[in-house]
Amino acid sequence: MYLIISRRSILRKANYFVPLQEIWKITDRMENRSIVSIADYGKEKIQYLLDMAAEFERQPNRTILQGKVVATLFFEPSTRTRLSFETAANRLGARVIGFTDPKVTSSSKGETLKDTIKMVSNYADVIVMRHRLEGAALYASEVTHVPIINAGDGSNLHPSQTMLDLYSIYKTQGTLENLNIYMVGDLKYGRTVHSLLMSMRPYNPTFHFIAPKELEMPEEYKMYCKKEGIKYVEQTDFTEDTIADADILYMTRVQRERFTDLMEYERVKDAYILRADMLGKCRENMKILHPLPRVNEIEQDVDDSPHAYYFQQAQNGLYAREALICSVLGIEP
Ligand code: CP
Repeated sequence: MYLIISRRSILRKANYFVPLQEIWKITDRMENRSIVSIADYGKEKIQYLLDMAAEFERQPNRTILQGKVVATLFFEPSTRTRLSFETAANRLGARVIGFTDPKVTSSSKGETLKDTIKMVSNYADVIVMRHRLEGAALYASEVTHVPIINAGDGSNLHPSQTMLDLYSIYKTQGTLENLNIYMVGDLKYGRTVHSLLMSMRPYNPTFHFIAPKELEMPEEYKMYCKKEGIKYVEQTDFTEDTIADADILYMTRVQRERFTDLMEYERVKDAYILRADMLGKCRENMKILHPLPRVNEIEQDVDDSPHAYYFQQAQNGLYAREALICSVLGIEP
């Protein structure tokens, strides 16, 4: 079992002193039920979470988390992830504390991530955290007994997004097995594609990676595919014909905030734009997913297509996150 962390990890530079081999090595996060990655989840655990998400979709409002406190610590901006986690907690009867901007916290005075996590652990039963540094969630999970849910760590992983992606794929395709999944756009910095790729390991997928050279899937994820026997094809063409046999077309935004060279961002930002007139040859079952936010990689005219599923996908995030919070707290619906 592996957790892939970008080689660009800057935790060491940030004085968090996490040895890289420790980050690469999956320790058993289930000791304290943290969700740092779901790459190590097997079919049984994933099915358990899918079934729980379906149960919450049937009835999202319950009081099963009464008396619990959920902390949402967002060191990076978010709309969907934070609001759906907070909605999930509220709909299940928990109370929510947290922040949306680290500038208003004592981290702006120099408090370390370790101390921040230890303090919040005094107040909350579960901590949902987004951080710009790859490996930050793993590190946080090692300094507290309170479960950490990784809400995105740099360009590394985004497991709760993956859970809602899996739920969306399962709902629309009726299965997770043997699917053709096309990932398009920023495959270098896109943590959602990294997480999804690894989580699909048990389901015999065939991936098509469509990206400009500058944003191609990083070598460590291709190595992961080779090691795990996951089929993949890399291509740069993005046409009606090249996407004709996709079951899932997973579009991504070019992540401006991860570029050190903004000229390079300008060069690649519009590399792939999906238009409604490109959907003429696609499979009937094909669904377009996107973690959102979109910038201009999906034209507005695609929104009316029966293949467009990204807004429902975001709605599925509520149910998937209700399931994840309950799972880390060991509470059944
Ligand atoms: N998909 C996603 O992570 O969206 P937000 O950045 O709005 O949370």
